[in-house]
Amino acid sequence: MADWRGHVMKLLIAGIGLIGARHLQHALQIPQIDVVGVIDPQLTQAEVAHFASIDAVDVEADAIVIATPSHLHAEHAEAAAARGWHMLIEKPVAHSLEAADRIIAATQRAGVHTLVGHHRRHHAAVTKVKALLQEGRIGAPVLASMIWAMKKPDDYFDVPWRAGPDGSPVMINLVHEVDLLRFLFGDAVAVQGIGTNAHRGAARVESGVALLQFENGVTASIGFSDATASPYGFEAGTGENPNIATTGEDYLRICGTNGALGFPSLTLWGGAADWSETPMVTTPAPVSNVPLVAQLNHFCDVCNGRALPLISALEGRKTLETTLAIEAAVAPKRGLT
Ligand SMILES: NC(=O)c1ccc[n+]([C@@H]2O[C@H](COP(=O)([O-])OP(=O)(O)OC[C@H]3O[C@@H](n4cnc5c(N)ncnc54)[C@H](O)[C@@H]3O)[C@@H](O)[C@H]2O)c1
Repeated sequence: MADWRGHVMKLLIAGIGLIGARHLQHALQIPQIDVVGVIDPQLTQAEVAHFASIDAVDVEADAIVIATPSHLHAEHAEAAAARGWHMLIEKPVAHSLEAADRIIAATQRAGVHTLVGHHRRHHAAVTKVKALLQEGRIGAPVLASMIWAMKKPDDYFDVPWRAGPDGSPVMINLVHEVDLLRFLFGDAVAVQGIGTNAHRGAARVESGVALLQFENGVTASIGFSDATASPYGFEAGTGENPNIATTGEDYLRICGTNGALGFPSLTLWGGAADWSETPMVTTPAPVSNVPLVAQLNHFCDVCNGRALPLISALEGRKTLETTLAIEAAVAPKRGLT
């Protein structure tokens, strides 16, 4: 197993596509990381050493970012574990629970650390909302209401795999919302849902509502759609994704026994004994950071034993399991084959 305590981490990045390219650009700027190579069969040139496959890597490495298509994560994680590399695996941890189990088994056998790329957990506003809840600023959380409603351009679905069921916003987008709610409230213990394909009419769910109950008693709804020109979404609210326009609107409201919170504004309501009193409202200064950078720095800390992963492969499997349950629940009951 790699051992680089106190030294610069030698990092590989597999899959230099949409998200892998962003990891690469950030990693090149981080002093405690030395990018020793990238792995991608489609790449013709790179700023660093380039390999067509994991098997072809002939440089020393401590860790790898696996940013390949989700259905390849298990194969690549097993290969990386066999080389003794710690790994940051993009979300979802895998495309199926069986594949996630392969990753968990291989990494435990090899004794290497895993971190799953649910990078929102590293967003400064998420850190803050978690702290506010832990401090009891709204009392005990009871209810959460989330709307993730964007309008994807029609040509987004021109890519063959997105045209059918795999283009559903549940596994692509809601997996992030589910992970955020799990981060705030713990494991989901019940899931229900209803969905439609009423506007785009393709063979996949496009809009719907998921209902979740968490182990701490919180119940939550996630309204979602990829067919609505709305300002509500994590990316729109925080400005976190360079490809999605920023609105600054809240997309999540959390109600507790003594108050309520809006996210990402972190607007805090409290001080009312019951419905006869007007609650006081405070709006803190917005907090922001680059979560992908924070995630890479955390990955360094995880790899050298300074921190436990904010989300391990085992935890990522739980987010996957809940998301798959939503996908099964919201598949429209008519109109889809
Ligand atoms: N955290 C996020 O917000 C976020 C955003 C986008 C994608 N993702 C996840 O990242 C992963 C990649 O998604 P993407 O949108 O970047 O995909 P993409 O299609 O843009 O890129 C995937 C890359 O992997 C390469 N690849 C394919 N087979 C390979 C192999 N055997 N070895 C090495 N490289 C190989 C491809 O050539 C391509 O360059 C997926 O799991 C996806 O769910 C996460």
